[in-house]
Amino acid sequence: MEFVDVLTSRRSIRAFADTPVPDAVLERLLGRALESPSWSNTQPYKVAVAQGAVLDALKSELSRRFSAVSTLQRGSLASKVLATLRGGVLPDGDYKPILRYPEDLQPRRLATGVGLYKLLGIPRDDHVARDAQMARNFRFFDAPTALFVFVHEGLGVYSALDAGIFLQSLMLAATDEGLGSCAQGALALWRSPVEAHFDIPRHYKLLCGVSLGYPLAVPVNGFRPERREVAEILLPQRGSGKA
Ligand SMILES: Cc1cc2nc3c(=O)[nH]c(=O)nc-3n(C[C@H](O)[C@H](O)[C@H](O)COP(=O)(O)O)c2cc1C
Repeated sequence: MEFVDVLTSRRSIRAFADTPVPDAVLERLLGRALESPSWSNTQPYKVAVAQGAVLDALKSELSRRFSAVSTLQRGSLASKVLATLRGGVLPDGDYKPILRYPEDLQPRRLATGVGLYKLLGIPRDDHVARDAQMARNFRFFDAPTALFVFVHEGLGVYSALDAGIFLQSLMLAATDEGLGSCAQGALALWRSPVEAHFDIPRHYKLLCGVSLGYPLAVPVNGFRPERREVAEILLPQRGSGKA
């Protein structure tokens, strides 16, 4: 594919076929992602690849936790205490999930959510259907492969920057091979389930996950959330009189 076509056709995929991703393809994608630039070429990331039985185990444990937390959020004080006592469900990720969006970012976040749920035919006030869609995150949208991306804590924010560049390369390489992907902050809510299956150095922190596989031709995969105009991201020069 032409570079511009790869760039503009990559979109987050939220419905996958069960066709497995061949090992050679996965290896090639990761190798291409490693072409990415990074701070002093430190490449401060590590990736846990979940497939087959490990993927199934993670799917069921993450789904169990999400469902317990959802009950906890909606439930009475007694059910919250009970769920907490049962233990192991409260998020134990390395980074705090974003619960409140900054006011100036909220409109874009809202528009994206509204657009996605509209396409899925889920009314805004249907919390059950919205929870069910959210829960699909923890089943990797049925993808046959999930990646968990860890970053070295020693480079602070620059590790995350490097991992972001790595991820974009990976996702573009996937698009170029006819695969789909979805970066998922949701998959960083819990570290311990991933740690049950992989040896992860303590100084590597769970940044996010990515579902990877072959996209299904369904409406949700055609979702194209709006982008800002170039002029909107440009900062006005002091004294230019522009707002
Ligand atoms: C760091 C990061 C975290 C994300 N987390 C989620 C997630 O948890 N669940 C989800 O469905 N999409 C998630 N997304 C996908 C974004 O919603 C998506 O990139 C954005 O709406 C733009 O759409 P596009 O990727 O289709 O261009 C995430 C994307 C990024 C880069």
